[in-house]
Amino acid sequence: ASRLSEDLCRRAPVIPVLVVDDAAHAADLARALVAGGLPALEVTLRTPAALDVVREMAAVEGGIVGAGTLLTSADVEAAKKAGARFGVSPGATDRLLDACEANDLPLLPGAATSSEVMRLLERGYTVQKFFPAEANGGAPALKAIGAPLPQVRFCPTGGVSLKNAGDYLALSNTLCVGGSWVAPKDKVTAGDWAGIQALAREAAALPRG
Ligand code: 3PG
Repeated sequence: ASRLSEDLCRRAPVIPVLVVDDAAHAADLARALVAGGLPALEVTLRTPAALDVVREMAAVEGGIVGAGTLLTSADVEAAKKAGARFGVSPGATDRLLDACEANDLPLLPGAATSSEVMRLLERGYTVQKFFPAEANGGAPALKAIGAPLPQVRFCPTGGVSLKNAGDYLALSNTLCVGGSWVAPKDKVTAGDWAGIQALAREAAALPRG
């Protein structure tokens, strides 16, 4: 059970990518996103408070909290201990995949090329993150990479916004997208939970193909 289930990615069209500086904001932020219709959340491990943020969010009813970027087996263990139910990484290494498998932590591993997608597929990962999505050619690139590999489904992330999310979600190989736009830093810092809930609601209403 160290692969991310399609089911988790199908819960909502968007997985918010969260950069949270202050763990005191975590529970309110998670509640706003979940109330807006986005239950799966990725907390980025790039702030000192991140593991506390995972811990706080993991306690929020209805949320499914993941942690990214995972790089090392220490990251995997720390994320799992904090309550993360899945991990995310921009790429993948054998050591990282081994660590997630050893710790039974479902991973959404990143891939950007056909060979990367194929290597992950060989290890059983049929759900992958296409990263960085826009810089790699966006939805047309993901469509072309996916055409000969229809058994792989993607969560494109990186440069995805309300404007272009629909282009990805219309693809048959896209389950959901990841993006930071639903939790902008100014709204988090200001505690504008109603504003964030409105952004989540708008994202949750994006049509899928
Ligand atoms: C990241 O770098 O955290 C992810 O790519 C999402 O960021 P973005 O939605 O701001 O591109």
